Amino acid sequence: MENSKFATKIGVVMAAAGSAVGLGNIWRFPYLTGENGGGAFLLVYIVCVLLVGLPVMLSEFVIGRRSGKNALGAMRALSGSRRWNWLGWSCVACSVLILAFYVVVTGWCIRHLLLSLFGVAPPDMVNTLIALAVNAAVLWMGVQKGIERMSRWLMPLLLVLLLLLVLRSLTLPGSMDGLRFLFRPVWSKITGDVWLSALSQAFFSLSIGLGCMLTYAAYMRKNQNMPRTALQVAGIDTLVAIVAGVAVFPAVFSFGFSPAEGPQLVFSVLPSVFAAMPWGGVFAVCFFFLLLIAAITSSVSIQEIAVAYLGEQHGVSRGRALVVTTAVTVVLAVACSLSLDGVFQIAGRSLFDWFDFLTSKFLMPLGGMGFVLFLGWFYPSEGSCEELQQGSRLPHWLFLCWLWAIRIPVPIAILIIFLHGLGMV
Ligand code: PFF
Repeated sequence: MENSKFATKIGVVMAAAGSAVGLGNIWRFPYLTGENGGGAFLLVYIVCVLLVGLPVMLSEFVIGRRSGKNALGAMRALSGSRRWNWLGWSCVACSVLILAFYVVVTGWCIRHLLLSLFGVAPPDMVNTLIALAVNAAVLWMGVQKGIERMSRWLMPLLLVLLLLLVLRSLTLPGSMDGLRFLFRPVWSKITGDVWLSALSQAFFSLSIGLGCMLTYAAYMRKNQNMPRTALQVAGIDTLVAIVAGVAVFPAVFSFGFSPAEGPQLVFSVLPSVFAAMPWGGVFAVCFFFLLLIAAITSSVSIQEIAVAYLGEQHGVSRGRALVVTTAVTVVLAVACSLSLDGVFQIAGRSLFDWFDFLTSKFLMPLGGMGFVLFLGWFYPSEGSCEELQQGSRLPHWLFLCWLWAIRIPVPIAILIIFLHGLGMV
């Protein structure tokens, strides 16, 4: 991202939505829903998006645009001290860890794309490296603007393809069981673990809690309506996740897969759906290509967090920052990829699982908590009110609702879910 303002308002929505919509919606959401009891998870997830995700996203917008800086620079500028540096560092560390396993999953898209094109694909580690190379190339050539313009057309196309998959899925025998699984919550399945998984998915899917939305907001114009942008981004993101669920679960039940199959769920179910479609091969190629684009628009935003930090805080040139972040990610991503074959296991978990666990269940909620506590209790509320009202006609009572939400209920909710995850309540 160049250090300039977004040219159009829709450009911001597209870039932020491009970051939010990615593998999280189409790969992670369905498999977590499958593992966490279906409808119960969906319901809890929507509650988490509305009551925690939206206020946190808006807080990142306020901090980012107010300061015009990267995560660490923003906290330092707005707090006027170094006391909040930990938050900036935690964001940068989190972004590097996420990128490491995100490119592994992007590699799986590449494998399926190559398989549907040529019938063969290289081993997963090679696909991971291809994913990382594509990512670095996009950032290096500064063609992100081009990609964003392109995704204006390609992302709606991805949605259209998903809708076609929905049609096929829904007309498979036994598909209603899948819909029932997704939309009928079994109340007894709402446990503390389900809350933690839903909260972590909300953070991951909305790209919040690690300064990604903050970094984008630094490039926003003052006449951008931030509350509306947050609603649009969260709305699009949730819609895509639900449509992915409707495409996947009827097929899961129809073909006799287990909904709790885990991270490979989508990659084993969808090829069966394609095989059962006329022109299935063509659909498969188009789908995995579009999914790859969705993954890339997200992974560049993840890497941008560390690149912006190195550039703005340490004066590192953009090229060098890219080399450093890519080199670190290569090592971590290869280790992640190998860990799925049984090496690099720690306490019975693969490195891949550890990175996922540490980031989405620990660092992102912690980051979200830091942002809301800072704005709620440490930053003068007149400042955030002024920032929010620029570009929007947010009524004062709504501002107060947001302010009081981020002061008490949002941090408490994050804390309780978090402590529960650590087995402490
Ligand atoms: N939100 C992206 C997805 O759902 O695939 C993943 C992501 C992007 C997470 C950017 C974090 C981030 F900063």
